[in-house]
Amino acid sequence: MPTPIARRIAPSILSADFARLGDEVRAVEAAGADLIHFDVMDNHYVPNLTIGPLVCEAIRPHVKIPIDVHLMVKPVDRIVPDFAKAGANIITFHPEASDHVDRTLALIRDHGCKAGLVFNPATPLAWLDHVMDKLDIVLLMSVNPGFGGQKFIASTLPKLREVRARIDAWRAGGGQEIWLEVDGGVKADNIVGVAAAGADTFVAGSAVFGARDPDGGYRGVMGRMRQALSGA
Ligand code: DX5
Ligand code: ZN
Repeated sequence: MPTPIARRIAPSILSADFARLGDEVRAVEAAGADLIHFDVMDNHYVPNLTIGPLVCEAIRPHVKIPIDVHLMVKPVDRIVPDFAKAGANIITFHPEASDHVDRTLALIRDHGCKAGLVFNPATPLAWLDHVMDKLDIVLLMSVNPGFGGQKFIASTLPKLREVRARIDAWRAGGGQEIWLEVDGGVKADNIVGVAAAGADTFVAGSAVFGARDPDGGYRGVMGRMRQALSGA
């Protein structure tokens, strides 16, 4: 029997109620979230400013699931150890923001976290060429980074298929497991197409936190996403 494909849903707390962040992360975990997606913006690499290691440390005791830190910052290396210390489990960064991509990937792993590269819609996949052995995750942006609530960019689908093929070929040649994550504009009504293009890990910010159940939880929207994925 073929092994069922793991499909992970990663609510992005960018769209959560920041005044109640502990409650919010507990509620998405209770609703079946697989990861907490944590968007770090510096008002330099991207035109917005969000949260840093202190907030990561503050939410860490509230959930057991991994914290998936998406760094939209430049430079990258200085902040990596701080996030590892603050309880991050996965750290991804944009290759354009690092002067030494291979070194940054190694630095993240040396600090005990899974490491990954993030590709903006127009960032070429050539950045993958020489670092496949150092990757635990590849994240394709399906919007331009900086804000939640944007529309999914359709050209991400062929790009996902291309990365899926590269990862499958790498695995077939004996390489390590690499997750394929997508971030931006993902919701219950387009998640099937995104999964069919090869993604296994789905970030959803506004779609999750904008659809709170009457009791304050998120079981309804997470259930709809799971349901859609189960048919994919
Ligand atoms: C955008 C962030 C995303 C964002 C996604 O720069 O990286 O994680 O929160 O939000 P939605 O799901 O609303 O597009
Ligand atoms: Zn993100």
